Amino acid sequence: MSKIVVGNWKMNGSCTLLRDFKDILQYKNFILALPYTLIHLAKTLNTGALIAAQDCSVFCQSGAYTGEISAVMLKDIGAEYVIIGHSERRRYFAECGDTIAQKIENAINAGLQVIYCVNEDYNQQINNEALQFLENIIVAYEPVSAIGTGNVSDADSITQICDAICELGAKRVMYGGSVNKVNIKEIIQVGKLYGVLVGGASLKIDEIADIIKASI
Ligand code: 13P
Repeated sequence: MSKIVVGNWKMNGSCTLLRDFKDILQYKNFILALPYTLIHLAKTLNTGALIAAQDCSVFCQSGAYTGEISAVMLKDIGAEYVIIGHSERRRYFAECGDTIAQKIENAINAGLQVIYCVNEDYNQQINNEALQFLENIIVAYEPVSAIGTGNVSDADSITQICDAICELGAKRVMYGGSVNKVNIKEIIQVGKLYGVLVGGASLKIDEIADIIKASI
């Protein structure tokens, strides 16, 4: 069955690189998660691409919160999705608990689809942050041990975690962590998996093209 591929550029990329990705953006099973600064350009390339932001403010709509970008603003600029609770935000910005729950609520209220990231602590994270939203959001399981390390999880352990997260109430579960054009062939065998979240490999045109094609 066809899987969704989300490319997460993290704090990488440029206007030039994004223009080079114009053909990749035409794939219907692909969503690109961009830094805020590139979202407008992505929409003006007119590829019909689905675009995600990588975070949104804990504050709701607008106001005196210098430097913040709200979910409402993301919707206004044309984003369809937002990643919330990525392990890098948990690690470097101490995000957890009520902050993440509030961000999810803001994003849903703004009409964005949420890609909610959890790691090895998924049980506790989901129970503290997202239980009430679980049916309506995408849960991305990204073990810290696999992010950017080359230590991709095997299909059996992805299946196991996927089942456990579904038992908590999730309907759509993705996997992320060191996905590349070789290991994607094994990962997509996990029938229940909704898709994959790809970091480093999503910055290379040939690599992400192969991952997307393998997932169609
Ligand atoms: P890598 O694919 O670089 O391991 O990153 C995974 C990730 O964090 C995607 O959000």
